[in-house]
Parts: sequence; structure tokens; C-alpha cells
Amino acid sequence: MPFNPMPRQLAQIKTLLFLVCLIPAGRLSWAAYSGDFGPNPVEFVQRWTGTWTFNLLLLTLTVTPLRHWSQWHWLLRLRRMLGLFTFFYAALHFLSYIGFDHAFAVDAIARDIFKRPFVTVGFAAFVLLIPLALTSSNWAIRQLGGRRWQALHRAIYPISLLALVHYFWLVKITAVLWPLAYGIVLAGLLGWRARERQRKAIPVRRFSEAAPLKFFKQKPGSAD
Ligand code: HEM
Repeated sequence: MPFNPMPRQLAQIKTLLFLVCLIPAGRLSWAAYSGDFGPNPVEFVQRWTGTWTFNLLLLTLTVTPLRHWSQWHWLLRLRRMLGLFTFFYAALHFLSYIGFDHAFAVDAIARDIFKRPFVTVGFAAFVLLIPLALTSSNWAIRQLGGRRWQALHRAIYPISLLALVHYFWLVKITAVLWPLAYGIVLAGLLGWRARERQRKAIPVRRFSEAAPLKFFKQKPGSAD
């Protein structure tokens, strides 16, 4: 169904999306205000921020296939905000880890990152997200040029795989259902992209393989 919002409607959609993306942070702030963190506050904050980082990462990756299927090209205008919210929740997640788990002690953080593989992988995903967040402005796109910007932002695919490995690695074997569900969604999103790339890369028949051109015996336009 074609739907092309007017600039004012698009601005309203963006504002609404912005507010919706703030809801998980609002829930955290409410928990901090009311003390409603459950029996294990640290675990609550880490899980909440980690889960929302992943949710937003998947939502960001959903924009392109959704745009393709719906032909709603304006959806692309929402992708940057979703990407930046992914980084925002990843930063909160990282902050909760360095603050609650290690009281901001740099040497303890560094040791833990090297010691626990699931932390190493999560850290790698976070570090790789930083250049993407830093180059999300129009100015950065102009400076880098479209092609280089696109190549850099393809890092979102390895980042999403690192996030998935991080998730699988940290849960106990009895609780793999959630990471499995995230894995299936991610496989669908990345698989769709791989298929699209392959489809677009189908070569046009080479000139030598093409059927020979037939010429008119008569010059076009000449008398019968
Ligand atoms: C793109 C980056 C990241 C994503 C998508 C992510 C995602 C997640 C998810 C989904 C969880 C589990 C939530 C649950 O159990 O329900 C989690 C937990 C956790 N993550 Fe991350 N994470 C990321 C980066 C990091 C980083 C940078 C660190 C630290 C250096 C980190 C450390 C942790 C820790 C300590 C837990 C809690 C494990 C536990 O419950 O014992 N993560 N993360």
C-alpha cells in the first residue's frame, strides 16, 4: 500500500519513534526512582540494557527489507535514529558493566575483558559500534563519501554476529531459547541481504554469448 508522508507527518513519525525508543530508558529511570529493580538490581540493569541493545540492533537491520517489501522508501529516514539508539543502549550496557561490576577500575575491567570470552566478544561489538555512531551525521557522510561510508557501515553485520555470539555464550545451556530466537531473526535479516546481493549481482549475458543481431536487408526508410 503506497504511503508517502508529508514532511510534517514524517517529523511527527520521527518524534513518535524517538519517544518510543526512550521507553526502555524510562523504565530504567522509573526503577531507579522507585527502587523497583527486583531481587538483583545489577543483573536487572545489565539484562535490560543488553536486551534493548539487541532489540534495537535488529530493528535497525529490519528497515531495509521492510522498505523493500513495502516500497515505503521514507523508512530509510528512520534508520539513523534506530542505529543511534542501538549505540545509546549499548553505551548504557557497557556503563552498567564497568560501573556495577568493576567500580570503574580500569585494570580490573581490562583483566575481565581478556579473561571472560563472552565479555571480550561483547566488548568487540561495542568498540566496533563507536565509529558507526561517530559517522552517522550528514557532515560525516559528506566527508567520507557515500561509498566509503557504506563500506564502513557494513560493519553492522559482523557486529550483529558478535552480539549473537556474546548472547549465546553468556546464557546457560538450559536458557538458549532466547538467543536462539534472536539468532533466527538475525539469520532471516542477514540471509535476505545475502540473497538480494546475489540477485543484483546476476551478470547480464556476455556480448559474445548473446544471440547474433539481425540486420535488415533493406535500409530502414528506403523505398519498397
Ligand atoms: C552490541 C553490544 C552488546 C549487545 C547487543 C549485548 C547484549 C547482551 C544481552 C542480550 C545480554 C543478556 C540479557 C539477558 O540475559 O537477558 C547481555 C548481558 C551481558 N553483557 Fe552484553 N551486549 C553487548 C555488549 C557488551 C559489552 C561491551 C559488555 C562488557 C564489556 C557486555 C557485558 C555483559 C554482561 C556482563 C552481561 C550480563 C551477564 C549476566 O547476566 O551474568 N556486553 N548482553
